[in-house]
Amino acid sequence: MPKAKDILTLEEQPDEQTFDISLRPRNLNEYIGQESVKENLKIAIGAAKHRKEPLEHVLLHGSPGLGKTTLAHIIGAELGAAVRVTSGPALERAGDVAAILTNLGEGDILFIDEVHRLPRTVEEILYPAMEDFAIDIVVGKGPGARTLRLDLPKATIIGATTRLALLSAPLRDRFGISYHLDYYSEKDIEIILERSARILKVPVEPEARKLLASRSRRTPRVANRLLRRVRDYAQVKTGGKVNMDSATQALEQLGIDTFGLDATDRRILSCIIDQFNGGPVGLSTLGATTGEDIQTLEDVVEPFLLQIGLLVRTPRGRVATPLAYQHLQRNAPVDLQQRLV
Ligand code: ADE
Repeated sequence: MPKAKDILTLEEQPDEQTFDISLRPRNLNEYIGQESVKENLKIAIGAAKHRKEPLEHVLLHGSPGLGKTTLAHIIGAELGAAVRVTSGPALERAGDVAAILTNLGEGDILFIDEVHRLPRTVEEILYPAMEDFAIDIVVGKGPGARTLRLDLPKATIIGATTRLALLSAPLRDRFGISYHLDYYSEKDIEIILERSARILKVPVEPEARKLLASRSRRTPRVANRLLRRVRDYAQVKTGGKVNMDSATQALEQLGIDTFGLDATDRRILSCIIDQFNGGPVGLSTLGATTGEDIQTLEDVVEPFLLQIGLLVRTPRGRVATPLAYQHLQRNAPVDLQQRLV
């Protein structure tokens, strides 16, 4: 049985890629939740098709595991366009992105994951590429150097980021369309689980599905991963059927509590409460004290704790809420309320 850490990590795991591909919705009608994003996308895609123009560049932002990559592939499918996938850190040099851009077809999509991690030199190539469908190449050196403008196929760039604030303003401004993906409702997660269970041919009792949905951090990637683990557990322990018993036992074994928190989440909260008297405490101090990577704290752990009201961000640092004290069965200090503002 894998550890809870592996279950709740929001990074896509290598063995998950094949698994997830079969579960990924392939068009907007199959995509559950994010209603306003879907509605806006339908209009933008319909209009682009009608005008026979490429779709404007799209920026997708939101926490990991909420479906940014899935949505990029769906946009491609809806437009009947090929999708080429890369990421900010993979594009190290200006030449890397120039090679990709010049090889795209008319109307194709270039999906750039972690677009906030593009090196500056690569970003600068993208500006004219996004604005004018052209790149400027400097030929020669010194006083004789000239700039050659090379026309590019009219392609759409879809950027995805978990950290909108880290995107430079000039890059952000070049995306004509920008959507925020929010955490899903538990009801939508239940529907996603129902669909996934159907595709995987795993019988899951409705009550067990509700339970899994309530522990999935309102994140489809976590929900599908839990389903897979619970299916394994049920196969070995309870004859294959996922019911309340097998689901409860599997979740317990994985150390996932009633709020969907794993051991790392609880360790972070306990650290704020026990070592910093509830806070405020800065993220870097928290990282140093718990040995947890600051990036993971900021991108993965904190957004969900904020979302469900266990943590508050104040100008002086993070503060544990009365709900966090209650959840971890600690007594809240009397002056906690004052620290929350
Ligand atoms: N699988 C993962 N995310 C999904 C979504 N939003 N809708 C349907 N299935 C999904």
